[in-house]
Amino acid sequence: MYNLSSRYLNYMGLSLSVGYVLYRLQCHFFEKKRRNTLNGKVVVVTGASSGIGEALAHVLHENGCKVVLAARRIGELERVKQDLISKNQTKSTYEPYVLELDLEKLEQLEPFVNKVYDQFGHIDILINNGGVSHRGSILQTSLDVDKKIMYINYFGSVGLTKAVLPKMVERKSGQIVFISSVQGLIAIPNRSAYGATKHALQAFADCLRAEMAQHNINVSVVSPGYVKTAVSLNALTGSGVSHGVMDKSTETGFSADHVAQEIVTMMVNKQNELIISQFLPNLAIFLRHKVPSLYHYIMAKRANKTL
Ligand SMILES: NC(=O)c1ccc[n+]([C@@H]2O[C@H](COP(=O)([O-])OP(=O)(O)OC[C@H]3O[C@@H](n4cnc5c(N)ncnc54)[C@H](OP(=O)(O)O)[C@@H]3O)[C@@H](O)[C@H]2O)c1
Repeated sequence: MYNLSSRYLNYMGLSLSVGYVLYRLQCHFFEKKRRNTLNGKVVVVTGASSGIGEALAHVLHENGCKVVLAARRIGELERVKQDLISKNQTKSTYEPYVLELDLEKLEQLEPFVNKVYDQFGHIDILINNGGVSHRGSILQTSLDVDKKIMYINYFGSVGLTKAVLPKMVERKSGQIVFISSVQGLIAIPNRSAYGATKHALQAFADCLRAEMAQHNINVSVVSPGYVKTAVSLNALTGSGVSHGVMDKSTETGFSADHVAQEIVTMMVNKQNELIISQFLPNLAIFLRHKVPSLYHYIMAKRANKTL
């Protein structure tokens, strides 16, 4: 009896050790693949001054990318740049390049891209991440707020994409990543302006992917659920002021670092889509498509709750 159980334990120990070694090997080879794929690539990250964009900048920089940090707040971008430099002093990396960008000002988009070309000659990867959310009922949201959020989240990203495409097509190489949201797949009340922009981005990206396949340009859409960033603090209310509240769901969401790691893995594997979400948003996506009447019932109940 004793011999049998000790032999069983030995067998279990050996299996676990082999499993662990295989897992470590797999991680090692993937890290190598990631570094080889990304090293020297020119990557533009919009919304790099905080949250997911900032976390992405860290993963890309430490993997040898020439990262362009873009957003409105130059001071925050400089902080991110210094963080990147100080955290990776022992690694071989390229100095990040800070460029001011306001996605709402569409006339700035082409000059912005030209500045990147002046510095690096081309762009390998564009990550359309910068964006702003919304809190407010449709009745209480002014059309100006709808337009503002559509300009930043949709037209800003579309305009930037159109500005980088000609050179990518000419080079027959490139990757465009859209940071959408699960709210690009389902709409929830009191976030109408935000959900509309993300649904629009999803449709644009799906068309773009089909049209760019012949030019060897890869298009990916990332749909995160709740991520712990300043997104709810910065969300615009119906009158256009900042919501200024850290939502519970956002505070307890995934870390931006975790999400950034998943996104970069997706980029290296050139996946078309990635949903990084908790159970409830995943369930909502399922219900919206398979049991729509139940979904609409739940959303009508939710609309009566607070923002
Ligand atoms: N956090 C979540 O739960 C979640 C979930 C799904 C999707 N997302 C998406 O993830 C992306 C990043 O958001 P986050 O969660 O990291 O929120 P965040 O911390 O508020 O970051 C938003 C970023 O967008 C930039 N931005 C805002 N307005 C801009 C404008 N007019 N022009 C240029 N940049 C602008 C901000 O920079 P400046 O203020 O310096 O311009 C900031 O860097 C957004 O597209 C968001 O919709 C977030």
